[in-house]
Amino acid sequence: MRYLTFALAKGRLAKNAMKIFEEIGIECQEMKDKDTRKLIFVNEELKLKFFLAKASDVPTYVEHGAADIGIVGRDTILEENRKLYEVLDLGFGKCKMCVCGPESARELLNNHSMIRVASKYTKIAKDYFYNKKHQTVEIIKLNGSVELAPIVGLSDVIVDIVETGTTLKENGLSVLEEVCDLSARVVVNQVSMKMEDERIREIVHGLRKVINEKQA
Ligand code: PRP
Repeated sequence: MRYLTFALAKGRLAKNAMKIFEEIGIECQEMKDKDTRKLIFVNEELKLKFFLAKASDVPTYVEHGAADIGIVGRDTILEENRKLYEVLDLGFGKCKMCVCGPESARELLNNHSMIRVASKYTKIAKDYFYNKKHQTVEIIKLNGSVELAPIVGLSDVIVDIVETGTTLKENGLSVLEEVCDLSARVVVNQVSMKMEDERIREIVHGLRKVINEKQA
């Protein structure tokens, strides 16, 4: 039997995913060692491999088949737009992609003004303004702390993730429009889905059952 390989977006997402995996009997003891510098972890018994990657790289590993299965946020899936199958909503890491800014920017949005939009998610921002709202905007790519942009005058609004809303509130910004709902997802390589159909289906089925039980 060949190894099935999982790419997990490192951080909270990976930790929560491993908890759900444990509930369906998929464990990886090696991964629990906090001091390890190892990058790849193996469960010999089940012939599974796990590795942690930067979230935005997970769809790349899965598209190219370096990982059969990926666990990553929907934000990253939409932004990367890779050829892969999204097979399951894990139901955690729930948040929203929103257009945010000072209240004064609401009018600029309503009037379809030519505004400046800062975001880490330029594809999602472009898609929203051009294809959904039919509003011509200037998009500015940032890599983090995006809330700074409207405060220091780099942009009129931002497109960013809102979870609790604390970051916005503490910086005098509001949600002006909602773009889409986000959460952690399971993605599968398109060839693996055919070649390892049975094993993958069993895992996805198990995960779905655990999630449904949690939500019930
Ligand atoms: C994310 C997001 C917001 C914040 C939202 O940033 O970009 O800044 O969390 O969470 P809240 O609504 O609960 O305040 P992250 O911490 O991932 O860092 P970043 O600045 O690098 O994007």
